[in-house]
Amino acid sequence: MSAVFSEAEIAEIRGRFPILSRQVHGKPLVYLDNAASSQVPSSVIDAMSDFERNHRANVHRGVHKLSQEATEVHEGVRDRVASLLGAACREEIVFARGATEAINLVACTWGATNLRPDSVVLVGELEHHANLVPWQILSSRIGFRIEKIPALDDASLDQAAYRALLERHHPALVAVQHVSNAFGTVHPVADMASAAHAHGALILVDGAQSVPHRSVDVRALDCDFLAFSAHKMHGPTGLGVLWARKELLDAMPPWQGGGDMIDKVSFSGTTFHEPPWRFEAGTPHYVAAAGLHAALDFLEEIGIGRVHAREQELLAHAHEVLGAIPGLRILGTAPDKEGVVSFVLDGIHHYDAGMFLDQMGIAVRTGHHCAQPAMERFGVTGTIRASFSVFTTEEEIDRLAAGVVRLQRVLA
Ligand code: ALA
Repeated sequence: MSAVFSEAEIAEIRGRFPILSRQVHGKPLVYLDNAASSQVPSSVIDAMSDFERNHRANVHRGVHKLSQEATEVHEGVRDRVASLLGAACREEIVFARGATEAINLVACTWGATNLRPDSVVLVGELEHHANLVPWQILSSRIGFRIEKIPALDDASLDQAAYRALLERHHPALVAVQHVSNAFGTVHPVADMASAAHAHGALILVDGAQSVPHRSVDVRALDCDFLAFSAHKMHGPTGLGVLWARKELLDAMPPWQGGGDMIDKVSFSGTTFHEPPWRFEAGTPHYVAAAGLHAALDFLEEIGIGRVHAREQELLAHAHEVLGAIPGLRILGTAPDKEGVVSFVLDGIHHYDAGMFLDQMGIAVRTGHHCAQPAMERFGVTGTIRASFSVFTTEEEIDRLAAGVVRLQRVLA
């Protein structure tokens, strides 16, 4: 029983997602892999289809009606994302292919310009590979050091160790996730940002798992860069966002060259467009922008506060029912979490469990979740991860729990 939505409201929300009515292996789909990709409501599919049928044309390039309509849609979503995040202005919103590309952009532009062989970058131990590997690639070119902010046994970051690392290394940058994709932990990034700034460091926040599930205000967090992806917030694939302070973007050189990012081009040299367009070479994914409009409509209509509250109910229920199963160990027990439960089963490989659950129509992610160092921290090669959405129900979580008990009987 939800205190946030009535049963009729939950049914109505679920009815908006066509995929939820399909069967998998003859069973009704239980989709618990929302941290990998969330599902899209019909309104998002319809918005993209309408755009393709009626408005498709390249943006920024045409005086004709279709191009102007497409540009309006594309640039309009920049305004909406700016207001979603509490950005100072729309020019702080850079579009990328996803959160991964947004972080790579920061590494290739700000990082390549500002990091020196004697610089230090602090990276959280639980990071998604997208917030570690770009720094490693750049470090192999420049030679700066990467220091790990260690995780505690509950999958929170060790804040005392973090402060000691700031004191010892005076890093140039702290790169940290807001919410762990592997365990769901919410890290205190506002506190971490003020500590970073007090030591002269900038902070980049990977918001891929927070922006879809809670209200995120970049001014309140006081971070310097924040990245997220549309496909994890009921939007299309292939579209992500980098938010950065305007003064940082103004000082950053371009990273990819091509159309749209230039001011004047000649064989004697090229001058570049202002941010954010300086960082958006080539034709952008404007069809996805139409989809993101509809995804934002969906989230705004329900209210991100109610999405968060509902997912907290689901999280509590999942901890209760899964935590009661003998032989099941939940990894990630810090008090502040988003709707992700990661667990391992005594004597059962996570892939076997995932395949067994799949046969029951239950989609969970298994493996290292693109966070191998985080797995190493807990001495496992992978986990079984259930991640929730506003459309998830307690009954679905109960089906997962029943599936786990059944697979324990068969596989253990
Ligand atoms: N980052 C995505 C996940 O956690 C793919 O599954």
